[in-house]
Amino acid sequence: MNRNAALLLALAALPCLAAAADPARPWLDKNLDPDRRAALALKEMTQKEKLNWVSSHFGADHGGNKTKKVPEAIPFSAGYVPPLARLGLPALFLTDAGIGVATQNTTTPRERTALPSGIATAATWNRKLAYEGGRMIGAEARASGFNVMLAGGVNLLREPRNGRNFEYGGEDPLLAGVMVGEQVRGIESNNLIATIKHYALNAQETGRFELDARIDPAALRMSDLFAFQVALELTDAGSFMCAYNRLNGPYGCEHPWLLNGVLKGDWGFKGFVMSDWGATHSTVEAANAGLDQQSGLEFDRAHYFGGALEEAVESSFVPQKRLDDMAFRVLRTMFAKGVVDHPVQQDGAIDYEAHGRISQADAEEGIVLLKNERNILPLSREAKKIVVIGGYADKGVLAGGGSSLVYPRGGNAVPGLLPATWPGPVMVYPSSPLKAIQARLPGAQVVFDDGRDPARAAAAAAGADVVLVFATQWVGEALDATSLSLPDNQDALIAAVAAANPKTAVVLENSGPVLMPWVDRVAGIVEAWYPGTNGGEAIARVLFGEVNPSGRLPATFPASEQQLPRPKLDGDPARPDERFSVDYHEGAAIGYKWFDLKGHKPLFPFGHGLSYTQFGYKDLKAQLVDGKVRVRFTVTNTGSLPGKDVPQVYVSPLAAQWEAPKRLAGWDKVELAPGASTDVTLAVDPRLFGVIKGSGNTWRVAGGRYQVKLARHALDDAAQTVTIQLPAQVLDAAGRRITKETKG
Ligand code: BGC
Repeated sequence: MNRNAALLLALAALPCLAAAADPARPWLDKNLDPDRRAALALKEMTQKEKLNWVSSHFGADHGGNKTKKVPEAIPFSAGYVPPLARLGLPALFLTDAGIGVATQNTTTPRERTALPSGIATAATWNRKLAYEGGRMIGAEARASGFNVMLAGGVNLLREPRNGRNFEYGGEDPLLAGVMVGEQVRGIESNNLIATIKHYALNAQETGRFELDARIDPAALRMSDLFAFQVALELTDAGSFMCAYNRLNGPYGCEHPWLLNGVLKGDWGFKGFVMSDWGATHSTVEAANAGLDQQSGLEFDRAHYFGGALEEAVESSFVPQKRLDDMAFRVLRTMFAKGVVDHPVQQDGAIDYEAHGRISQADAEEGIVLLKNERNILPLSREAKKIVVIGGYADKGVLAGGGSSLVYPRGGNAVPGLLPATWPGPVMVYPSSPLKAIQARLPGAQVVFDDGRDPARAAAAAAGADVVLVFATQWVGEALDATSLSLPDNQDALIAAVAAANPKTAVVLENSGPVLMPWVDRVAGIVEAWYPGTNGGEAIARVLFGEVNPSGRLPATFPASEQQLPRPKLDGDPARPDERFSVDYHEGAAIGYKWFDLKGHKPLFPFGHGLSYTQFGYKDLKAQLVDGKVRVRFTVTNTGSLPGKDVPQVYVSPLAAQWEAPKRLAGWDKVELAPGASTDVTLAVDPRLFGVIKGSGNTWRVAGGRYQVKLARHALDDAAQTVTIQLPAQVLDAAGRRITKETKG
């Protein structure tokens, strides 16, 4: 028999083989749909076996209550759910998070590839890169034995001092939802479960366990919740993680409106809700509100979803059908996402070179050129003397702290920085910008000064052809920035250096918005965020023009803290268990929307970013096609270098009242050779023309005229504008046109 005939025979036999494989375990039949498989498995389970799926253990020793790690968990991992061998169902092995395979604080970490921070990926405005990055870190998770990845974080940047802004996708619900959603899709393409988090309004770390986030529910639906919804619609993600904080009263993990109402009801979420670690506070309230799995149970005061849940079901405080639904959701997700059919194994092969290149491509496109005057950039190959100052640039690039920290191959380039323990260690990835610059200027003098003494650094800078100051801001989970100023006297350092040499550019490695009192005194500013495994190389490539910068800000940089809805951060970091409220009075007017509404002029607006070439826009048109606004225009590279651009479309009502004058409605990322043009077509999500009111869950679009703007950033006065007439309509939560309204 030839090979083809043998193959045909084998294929023909497959369905019978699968069906006949294990008649006693029909749920293992891959030909059945996930709902059926989960129902079949559930039918077979004892009550104890059902309870198995509704809690996870922490994967490391828990210092707080001195519990030892469960031996079967992968060392220093986020979590573990035991298998049910009797039924052929695998264990769940949980790992953080958004930039790669993390390790809980230890001296013997897993060393893996780190993407640039989440906000850096959002700054690429490139969906494909977000997906590829997710795919890469998911592959490393799988190769490390994990089948649940606790990413993507999609909390909106309401609070520029939030210590976790680097983990998220910025301030706009559409941009954040799409970019984080693409990453989640990439992760789950490895037959893994990803986790969208932290649901919802976990907008600051100070007081996160107890603070009550107060907000108008309709405004919340149009902003933070819309980001979660966009990500969910794009991915059908396997799980959601409810947040630590309270929301208008109840904790996020025992919040019937948030979990049963919005997530499972309005949005039709089919996956399971896990709590954040230490965010479960009850048995009956939490289970009945829609929490499906108590996470890292060692963090909580009690094992609420263990014996206590069993008793609550026995005494009918929690209906049996609710426990069945909890277990069903976990099982269904395991089948739907492929974790049963594609078992994970530890010690899989990882191609670190290839993965480093994926991380680097992301970092290169996420770098935002904020300012470029006097031709300081790209750096000239003719330069004779460059002085590089500060930021550990001789050693590597900074990473953010907390549970998402990925340990690099080669170890910390600057060990011993404080804090050494949670949310530390402060990590510097061994990818030195200084070395990458030196490699590009073999004949020149490229010298380094650590920047600790501004006067000494200024003296070193005087007379150089170019000076590059690397400025850093380290923050982490559980630790907000105390102010938006750069720490450790770096503002004084930059001012002193710029005074000594006007040919100074600043490279920032930071979590999110910072103040720049020296903005007018330096010639160039490059926002590099936390740029990941190959960050030093990525920065050098942008500085030398090997990569034409194309990142755009996913968040507004204020000119002062006085411009913010809350000039002072609420809460006291020294009293983490204190109860207080944060009044999100700005509602859905976050970031640029707030600045637009108030007429504040920021330091740099959302969407801003320069290039080494120029782009022109023309022929903007907007039309209503099949109930959706379709926008068309042409982009031309009018400069002399190839490059990528991010044309942005914003929409504004002429008569209707929104939370702010305009909203981002779409964008594209286009690559163009000098002189080349391309036509872009975008369809606008109809919900972006609507508002939600009161306790409703529908989007109402007022009939009338709307402006469609083609802009370079959110506050672009030179935006091209056309107007379009829209009919009045009511849309359901998913954006479908309805005639009859439902109440939420
Ligand atoms: C964080 C989550 C993380 C979890 C597990 C919590 O402290 O808030 O984002 O996934 O720990 O490590």
